[in-house]
Amino acid sequence: MDSFTDNRTPPMVQSLKRKSACIPDLRRRAQWRIPRFALEYLRGGCNQDLAVRRNRSALDQVCLRPDYLTPSLKPVLTTELFGQPYDLPFGIAPLGLTGLIWPQASLMHARAAKASNIPFVLSTVSTISIEQAAAAAADNFWFQLYPPTDRAICEDLLNRVEAAGCQHLVVTVDVPTAGQRPKDTRNGLAVPPKITLRSIAQSVLCPEWGIRTLKTGLPQFASLQPYMQNLKNLEDHANFVRHHLREPVDAALLQRLRERWQGKLIVKGINHVDDARRALEIGVDGIIVSNHGGRQLDAARASIETLPAIAAAVGDKLTVMADSGVESGVDIARFYACGAQFVFTGRPFLYGVAAHGEPGAQHTIDLLREELEQLMLQVHCQRPTALVQHLLKAV
Ligand SMILES: Cc1cc2nc3c(=O)[nH]c(=O)nc-3n(C[C@H](O)[C@H](O)[C@H](O)COP(=O)(O)O)c2cc1C
Repeated sequence: MDSFTDNRTPPMVQSLKRKSACIPDLRRRAQWRIPRFALEYLRGGCNQDLAVRRNRSALDQVCLRPDYLTPSLKPVLTTELFGQPYDLPFGIAPLGLTGLIWPQASLMHARAAKASNIPFVLSTVSTISIEQAAAAAADNFWFQLYPPTDRAICEDLLNRVEAAGCQHLVVTVDVPTAGQRPKDTRNGLAVPPKITLRSIAQSVLCPEWGIRTLKTGLPQFASLQPYMQNLKNLEDHANFVRHHLREPVDAALLQRLRERWQGKLIVKGINHVDDARRALEIGVDGIIVSNHGGRQLDAARASIETLPAIAAAVGDKLTVMADSGVESGVDIARFYACGAQFVFTGRPFLYGVAAHGEPGAQHTIDLLREELEQLMLQVHCQRPTALVQHLLKAV
């Protein structure tokens, strides 16, 4: 017998597992529960989706070596990050406009992150506010900043993040311009958004999504609402975001944020060793090696490809984390094997709630944890950071 089912698992969890036994199952189930325009916004990359495919194919190349004839030790998944203990070695990446995919998705993620003691990163353009995220996730709440061009608004956002008790500021640098996403343009998800007969027809086919959206109301950029009071319609709101959140984050702006922010400063979107060194010079505390899930630069290398050189160059001087392309606990292990000190994942958490509602957020965490734990037992590795010793170089 090479596998068995654990009968001690609670019935609700068993039933979720039977319906969705892995992340691709969540994706397949989500596919028929949300309108096509929402699915394409979530699943897609940019241009021809080459970077999305490259993330997958590069991860698939990473093989791990088992050490069967060494002592087998129980995996320890607890970890310390920036001096704070977490129960698991992965977290929820910042995701904007989540209410479009599943109403209240980010609130569900924030609660699950708190319950499982993992980091939850709230996007500047999330559809729940800083204050809601802090109430739900408490000290598991991190904030991702797209710095508004208006300095007074930027300062006010940072003041609110501080007042909410948040210690971790994640500044995203890989969105100097909006990604080219032809599917979103065709679906009317461009700025300003267009409600077409086609999108209405797609919504009618997903009754639960439709009813929940009617109850919750159209998704709004909740943290930005205080600065949008005088704006009249959806088009004005879209234009506000287009004009105020388009400041490219260069070294000078990052330096200014470093001087301003007393807590941990993390740069997200590093995809080359030169940028990693620049971030180090500015004095940031950590970086997230990422290609934004393949959504910004279609000619980007996969983050799993750039990670080893970056980890070797700066990994002993700042905390090197990574994301992009994780679809299983095995992928999380691959990132650790290539030098990550922590891993984030985005889409799986949205597939989770789109597939199963609120329990889907916890189920996503459970699936990733179980797969990672199983992999570590399989290769005889006790801690994620020791997975580097199990990396097999490509031949
Ligand atoms: C629907 C969606 C929205 C996103 N919104 C943001 C955002 O607002 N800010 C940000 O820094 N990254 C954003 N990202 C990128 C994620 O934080 C993360 O880098 C990416 O999803 C990782 O790849 P994965 O989805 O394959 O795990 C978004 C990604 C997706 C899929």
